[in-house]
Amino acid sequence: MALLHAIVLLGLLSQHAPSCSAATDTVSPGNGLAGSSSSSSRLVSNNSKFALGFFKMGDSKSFNYTNPYTYLGIWFHKVPKLTPLWSANGESPVIDPTSPELSIAGDGNLVILDQATRSIIWSTHANTTTNDTVAVLQNDGNLVLRSSSDIFWQSFDYPTDTFFAGAKIGWNKVTGLNRRLVSRKNLIDQAPGLYTAELQRNGVGHLLWNSTVEIGNTGEWNGQYFSLAPEMIGNSDRLTSFDYVNNDKEVYFTWILHNETVIVLSQLDVSGQGVVSMWMDDSQDWVIIYRQPVLQCDVYATCGPFTVCNENQDPVCNCMEGFSISSPRDWELGDRRDGCTRNTPLLRCGIDGSSNTDLTDKFHSVQRVRLPNDAMKMKAARSEDDCSQVCLVNCSCTAYSYGKGGCSVWHGKLTNVKLQSDGNGEMLYIRLAATEVPRVERKHRNAIGIGAAIGASAAALGLMILGLLVWWRKGKWFARTQLGDVQGGIGVLTFRYVDLERATKKFSEKLGGGSFGSVFKGYLSDSFTLAVKRLDGARQGEKQFRAEVSSVGIIRHINLVKLVGFCCEADQRLLVYEYMPNHSLEVHLFKASGTVLNWNLRFQIAIGVARGLAYLHTGCRDCIIHCDIKPENILLDESFVPKIADFGMAKILGREFSHAMTTMRGTIGYLAPEWISGAPVTSKVDVYSYGMVLFEIVSGSRNSSQEYFEDGDYSAFFPMQVARKLLSGDIGSLVDADLHGKANLDEVERVCKVACWCIQDSEFDRPTMTKVVQFLEGLSELDMPPVPRLLKAITGGSPESLTSV
Ligand SMILES: *[C@@H]1O[C@H](CO)[C@@H](O)[C@H](O)[C@H]1NC(C)=O
Ligand SMILES: *[C@@H]1O[C@H](CO)[C@@H](O)[C@H](O)[C@H]1NC(C)=O
Ligand SMILES: *[C@@H]1O[C@H](CO)[C@@H](O)[C@H](O)[C@H]1NC(C)=O
Ligand SMILES: *[C@@H]1O[C@H](CO)[C@@H](O)[C@H](O)[C@H]1NC(C)=O
Repeated sequence: MALLHAIVLLGLLSQHAPSCSAATDTVSPGNGLAGSSSSSSRLVSNNSKFALGFFKMGDSKSFNYTNPYTYLGIWFHKVPKLTPLWSANGESPVIDPTSPELSIAGDGNLVILDQATRSIIWSTHANTTTNDTVAVLQNDGNLVLRSSSDIFWQSFDYPTDTFFAGAKIGWNKVTGLNRRLVSRKNLIDQAPGLYTAELQRNGVGHLLWNSTVEIGNTGEWNGQYFSLAPEMIGNSDRLTSFDYVNNDKEVYFTWILHNETVIVLSQLDVSGQGVVSMWMDDSQDWVIIYRQPVLQCDVYATCGPFTVCNENQDPVCNCMEGFSISSPRDWELGDRRDGCTRNTPLLRCGIDGSSNTDLTDKFHSVQRVRLPNDAMKMKAARSEDDCSQVCLVNCSCTAYSYGKGGCSVWHGKLTNVKLQSDGNGEMLYIRLAATEVPRVERKHRNAIGIGAAIGASAAALGLMILGLLVWWRKGKWFARTQLGDVQGGIGVLTFRYVDLERATKKFSEKLGGGSFGSVFKGYLSDSFTLAVKRLDGARQGEKQFRAEVSSVGIIRHINLVKLVGFCCEADQRLLVYEYMPNHSLEVHLFKASGTVLNWNLRFQIAIGVARGLAYLHTGCRDCIIHCDIKPENILLDESFVPKIADFGMAKILGREFSHAMTTMRGTIGYLAPEWISGAPVTSKVDVYSYGMVLFEIVSGSRNSSQEYFEDGDYSAFFPMQVARKLLSGDIGSLVDADLHGKANLDEVERVCKVACWCIQDSEFDRPTMTKVVQFLEGLSELDMPPVPRLLKAITGGSPESLTSV
């Protein structure tokens, strides 16, 4: 995607060397900061995280253009790719890089001084009450001008495009100060760009284009989240959290980074997307972990006028046919506000127009697009030909479309046209000079006389209605963007395939092979490890995949593995989960490489899994049946808290899921009898599988172990022994020998009883998972379970013969 290019390019434009010793974090009277690139020309925060100094962008082979401008700015000290986070003089850059000096002026303000002319290029313009001030670059990246007693000015009050952790976006209601994010003009020019993100005084977040056009809002804050961004709810996160304050004095939104060792960047990008990225030491590169809107083509006017945005192409922005890029230099640097212009001017209305139809402008059709903004509905035009004529006879009309909504015409610039790959697009006819229209696309429409069309047009003009931007999903922007939320506490992240390929070192470290694909270990940074699942069978469309992943991704519970994000490119379908350092329950129960889990841990794991399943069955909006509960799908975090993996796969995989499941049928292991017999499944199939897992937790070995079945002696089948020994009261002998008798026998008995109830042949006899939790916690008492019929089937014996042993 072009956006990552943007970020990467930003990085490539580096000119500074980060290593420097003995740097100070303070500018004081008489101790300024020079513009030359010696190491003394920058401040470094005390924690070495941020640096401030003069920088220059654009000395790179990537661009033919060198930006002559030097700025004063702040960047991450440890990131070797220069990435400006804040700049002081974006609107008044310095031309000669050796001339500026940052110093404290006689009135106590911090100023950039042109040493050659002794003129002030930029000043903090604060109401200083003393000239005894110092400017300090703090550990949070805030540049503060203060005296011993007062703060006069701080850079956090004047943000540019970066939302620093700990900074506030919003209003100081007393002073009227509005802190908002403004995108930059282009990839190297630090002047303000066209996109603005701000809280309004009423506390609602807005995304604006060109300061006036509202292109998204967050809805009101309801105490927990912005009403149009419900995905913010829940999930305190180990890495980040957010805060919202609205009182008499101020209204603001902020985010907090809880781990100082990671470098997270939250920016309003040149293209208008909110982007959260993380610096990866391994690859020495930024990795985008969150983007909103996810697709660049969904950003209002991102390609400029007379363009077609195509998300499946790189670059995504292209001129319409018959048009060329207006300003190649700006375009290349990511500033596409001027978009494209006509190769051949249209006929001058009323002068060149004649009855000779060969000379009139023509229409060129573009198929399957999202129509441009600001359509005018022409109700009087009842046919496509009418619609075409209505446009043709109006000098300023540039395009028309005749579709489900009748006739729409456009005047002036056409913006926001996007190629729709999902079949919801419409046909747009763009007006071009006759010589521009490719012959194959030439439309034949000579039927209607000009005179008649003029009449129709006059009537239609009276009925003009401004079209609504129906496709533009307002909201959901601000809140999601503003959070540097690496673990996806507020939604599911979108990953690029190349980033996952890099994070997993080309899928080299395989963690396991599940039912639906292989799982690989991935590293975002030293402190962030991921489990990346590459799906084999996901064949459904991208839109549906995204939708299902998002709906599964908001399901969060302490006993469910968190779905961090996904990747969906071409036919690649990957799911990204939090990494579980203690592997799966299978490893610890059955494998030599595992550790012997003591009884208390086993009991807690049993309860945790039950809680997770109860939540899946009843706690979330759409009930989810897991369908594949087994020790391999119960993962353990660093504290051995159990987390159920692979839930929601039926949603995510669609039809492929039942296919994968069919091939698993017939294995005795964990599948409920109704499933094996092909009957419709309910959540009770999970209860059955869970019961089977409980037996294995007690015994520490597989129920379906070959030895039980080899010689037809099913009496050794562990669930059978349990049913028997529950009656005889000798449950101590059931417990895994590796525990050397160290187990709470009350708990063992409870677990065994629950397990026997769970594997009852009839699903109606099995308890719900909610009940199971209550039983295990001792909140409800349990009757002695009947011996399950399935066991009778296996042994071929009668229940009496079992219970009497
Ligand atoms: C740079 O400019 C030269 C000459 O103006 C041109 O031939 C070349 O294609 C340009 N390179 C890029 C990357 O735009
Ligand atoms: C600060 O102000 C005092 C008098 O108000 C003056 O004597 C002194 O020179 C000033 N210091 C600077 C650095 O301008
Ligand atoms: C500076 O102080 C004056 C007078 O106290 C006040 O009118 C003005 O608004 C202040 N300026 C700023 C930037 O605070
Ligand atoms: C932004 O708005 C200003 C004033 O309304 C207008 O002059 C300018 O052309 C607009 N910019 C773009 C790129 O449309």
